Amino acid sequence: MADSPPADNAAAAPPGAPTTAAATGRAGPGASPTDILLLHPGAMGSAVGEVWHGLGLRVHWLPEGRSAASSRRAEAAGLLGTDLDTALGRCTLVASICPPHAALTVAAQVFERGYRGLYLDANAISPQASASIAELASRAGAQYVDGGIIGPPPRGNATARLYLSGPHAAELAPRLAGAGLSTQALAGGLCQASALKMAFAAWNKGAQALLADVHALADTHGVREALEAEWALLEPDAAERTRRMLTNAPKAWRWSGEMREIADTFGAAGLPEGFHRAAAEVYDRLAGFKDAAEPPPLAGIVAALRRAGG
Ligand SMILES: NC(=O)c1ccc[n+]([C@@H]2O[C@H](COP(=O)([O-])OP(=O)(O)OC[C@H]3O[C@@H](n4cnc5c(N)ncnc54)[C@H](OP(=O)(O)O)[C@@H]3O)[C@@H](O)[C@H]2O)c1
Repeated sequence: MADSPPADNAAAAPPGAPTTAAATGRAGPGASPTDILLLHPGAMGSAVGEVWHGLGLRVHWLPEGRSAASSRRAEAAGLLGTDLDTALGRCTLVASICPPHAALTVAAQVFERGYRGLYLDANAISPQASASIAELASRAGAQYVDGGIIGPPPRGNATARLYLSGPHAAELAPRLAGAGLSTQALAGGLCQASALKMAFAAWNKGAQALLADVHALADTHGVREALEAEWALLEPDAAERTRRMLTNAPKAWRWSGEMREIADTFGAAGLPEGFHRAAAEVYDRLAGFKDAAEPPPLAGIVAALRRAGG
């Protein structure tokens, strides 16, 4: 699977002096990025941006159209707010870390401005979707790196892995590793990193959707307590899995898009894709928990699933 060991918390190569390539937004594949445009500073993007900022790289972001929450995160992470044209003139790497359903639009906005540097899509998208973005990059004369992030936002004791693939992955990987963020270039095809992310999340997030649905089903028939008692005997990790599922409910609005990407990935591999189409529907029904300050109670999950179902 991997062609090199993880560069856990390794320091990046020291950023070189800005080159003419940086001034024109064109990086030769071997150039070390000094200025990165991060699209956008969400929970994960801001944490990754902070790691890169800690490496001495200048990390830019686009305040236009973003919420006050993104603004707060960007400021706390030491990111530099700017506009798209200025950023593309300066940055030799654009890193897309946004909701999966927005990945293609975000990429198109960059390439329609004639950007010809390195473009990293680190989103939870199917290998086919990633290949479409690679095609946009290629038509624009840019270089594409496929990426996938596994693990929580790297802050405090939390660590994440950024997997990269494609012809520029091996040289970029050591330059983007920092405190809490390890990077690894995967051997094989262009979109291996996305494939790995899809396979990982298929189980991790797909199973959480199934668990929520099972709770709702048992509740509908009045057997939820009996089921939990049985689980305590035979599935002792069910209680902890349920707790995690509740904690993650505020992310359901974003996970439904990820489930559709996973379903597409299964479908393209000739495998059954229905599990994750249904998981997407579960997360659609839980989308109302977006921005909830506290995890909802199980009864809230059950009610949301059942209400939307009629
Ligand atoms: N969070 C995690 O634990 C985690 C773990 C592994 C991988 N990832 C990956 O990281 C990526 C981003 O996740 P995240 O947790 O950072 O998400 P997030 O916290 O929801 O943030 C998403 C960012 O994208 C912006 N955004 C929202 N809708 C958009 C749209 N339609 N077009 C363009 N930008 C939009 C948001 O801006 P506004 O809200 O200000 O509009 C925000 O800055 C995903 O691909 C995910 O799979 C996340």
